[in-house]
Amino acid sequence: MSIFGNRRAKVDPAQRAPGNGNGSNGAAGGNGDLFHHGVMRHAPPPDHGGGAVDTAELKKQAVEVPVAALSWVDERTGASPLLRGVMYRKVPKGVNWFQTFGSATLFAFVNQAVTGVFLAMYYDPSPQNAYASVVRLTNEVFAGELVRGMHRWGATVMILLLFIHMTRTFVWGAYKYPRELTWVIGVVILILTFVMGLTGYLLPFDQRAFWATVVGVNITAAGPIVGPYLADFLRGGAEFGAATLTRFYAIHMLLVPGLMGALIGAHLYLVIKLGVASPPWVKAEKSRDLAREDI
Ligand code: HEM
Repeated sequence: MSIFGNRRAKVDPAQRAPGNGNGSNGAAGGNGDLFHHGVMRHAPPPDHGGGAVDTAELKKQAVEVPVAALSWVDERTGASPLLRGVMYRKVPKGVNWFQTFGSATLFAFVNQAVTGVFLAMYYDPSPQNAYASVVRLTNEVFAGELVRGMHRWGATVMILLLFIHMTRTFVWGAYKYPRELTWVIGVVILILTFVMGLTGYLLPFDQRAFWATVVGVNITAAGPIVGPYLADFLRGGAEFGAATLTRFYAIHMLLVPGLMGALIGAHLYLVIKLGVASPPWVKAEKSRDLAREDI
């Protein structure tokens, strides 16, 4: 059963003849009723003086058209139960602004994805052209400096928001049963965000980018057991060069964003399934009743 089901009749094309002002339930009075019953079906619209447009009718249609489009999609996909589950969730007592940092982090991630797509349209990942393509993008492309700045500063903002979000969940004890997996997935997302930072830093391919990457990969190589192998993988061989840039670009553009998208999806699925934790200062009034109700 569709959440829009009861509205569908309103937009049945058979009922919407040209000039059929009311177009649906005939509930409106005045001109609407006349139009609905077909008395003035093909008559010109009512003259409000000086040929003014019937704004009430326009407003009504502006509501009906999106509802009709949504009903059409819903009837074919059956998406409404899923949407209802996501949108009409129960939230615990005491929910507040501290619980918005996860969504803020999500916004930062989407910002990185969207601005990254536009940057990729102008970036050339070859050692000879990478730097020049970034300079061109910044100085010549329309809004290039803005988009690049949004991506660069967005990376810092995302890490900041991640830490605030993580600190909030930790301080509230929201990592405890049954949300351990939400936390573990969050930790993997955090590591992947650092990988995005490391791989993205090399892409402008100027002196600072190059030498910072040499330092970062050498630190990785000093790690126990897997360190040297991981550094070889990142370098794309024994030396830093063209292969390193290609590899960092592929990791930055394809591998890690894909993984992060999937993990954020799993993270949000668990948040919806388990519900958000209530603040530590909110105590259940009748804990026994509450426990019974939850079961
Ligand atoms: C791109 C990264 C992330 C996104 C988009 C994200 C998104 C969200 C959202 C929207 C929520 C629900 C609202 C809220 O509690 O703020 C949430 C909850 C949660 N997140 Fe994240 N998160 C991310 C990273 C992390 C990290 C790094 C950790 C910890 C290591 C983490 C641990 C948790 C936990 C434990 C909850 C449940 C909180 C509760 O039930 O009150 N998340 N996340």
